Amino acid sequence: MSEPMIQCRGLSKSYRKGNNVVTPLEKLDLDVPRGEFLALMGPSGSGKTTLLNLLSGIDSPTEGSLVIAGKELAKLSRRELTKWRASQVGYIFQLYHLVPVLTAFENVELPLLLSPMSKKERHVRVESALSLVGLHDRMHHTPTELSGGQEQRVAIARALVANPSLLVADEPTGDLDRESATRILDLLKQLSREHGKTIVMVTHDPRAAESADRTLHLEKGLLVS
Ligand SMILES: Nc1ncnc2c1ncn2[C@@H]1O[C@H](COP(=O)(O)OP(=O)(O)OP(=O)(O)O)[C@@H](O)[C@H]1O
Ligand SMILES: [Mg+2]
Repeated sequence: MSEPMIQCRGLSKSYRKGNNVVTPLEKLDLDVPRGEFLALMGPSGSGKTTLLNLLSGIDSPTEGSLVIAGKELAKLSRRELTKWRASQVGYIFQLYHLVPVLTAFENVELPLLLSPMSKKERHVRVESALSLVGLHDRMHHTPTELSGGQEQRVAIARALVANPSLLVADEPTGDLDRESATRILDLLKQLSREHGKTIVMVTHDPRAAESADRTLHLEKGLLVS
């Protein structure tokens, strides 16, 4: 069997809150094969976002090891981690987090401004990411001129534009009507099936989880299938 995309071993995360210590994740083991579309469910406060933040290198574990695409994240310097994150991980949020004064095109272009690349190459990539999500014709509109579902598709294009192998999504359909949600889920499925992306999606919606290859539940810091 080939090496998994994500390998967590004994992963724990604690936060200090005043005199208390909260431990949303406790000694978590998790393997995610390359190209899998994994849904993560669990009650509020069960550590779902915490786990996504660890997987994407935004936050670091208190204990345990995390190997992603063969890289042990703890061994990277801050600088290497920033570079790794920019090229390997796309993060999709519930509330899109687009920059309101920029057009769809400019929003998607943003992450590429961090890497050395000609303007021409950058524009080709931005247009192809926007085409993939079906928004090539809306690329010169700002977020206020788009529907929620379209905004989320711009956010997905932004997460994809650097061609990362891992996408993490935190309730990507939580704020959308059923039809827009279905379109987003179909798009995520397509990204895993046709483009080989590994996707970890947090959701509260069992219907959304059905789009995934596998669903895991987080409860009291532990994973159950
Ligand atoms: N930066 C932080 N500092 C202190 N405590 C935190 C921090 N981030 C999360 N927590 C705590 O860790 C626990 C898990 O939070 P997390 O955001 O991962 O939950 P969640 O499963 O994503 O919940 P929800 O479904 O409501 O989004 C909560 O008790 C939360 O208060
Ligand atoms: Mg959360």
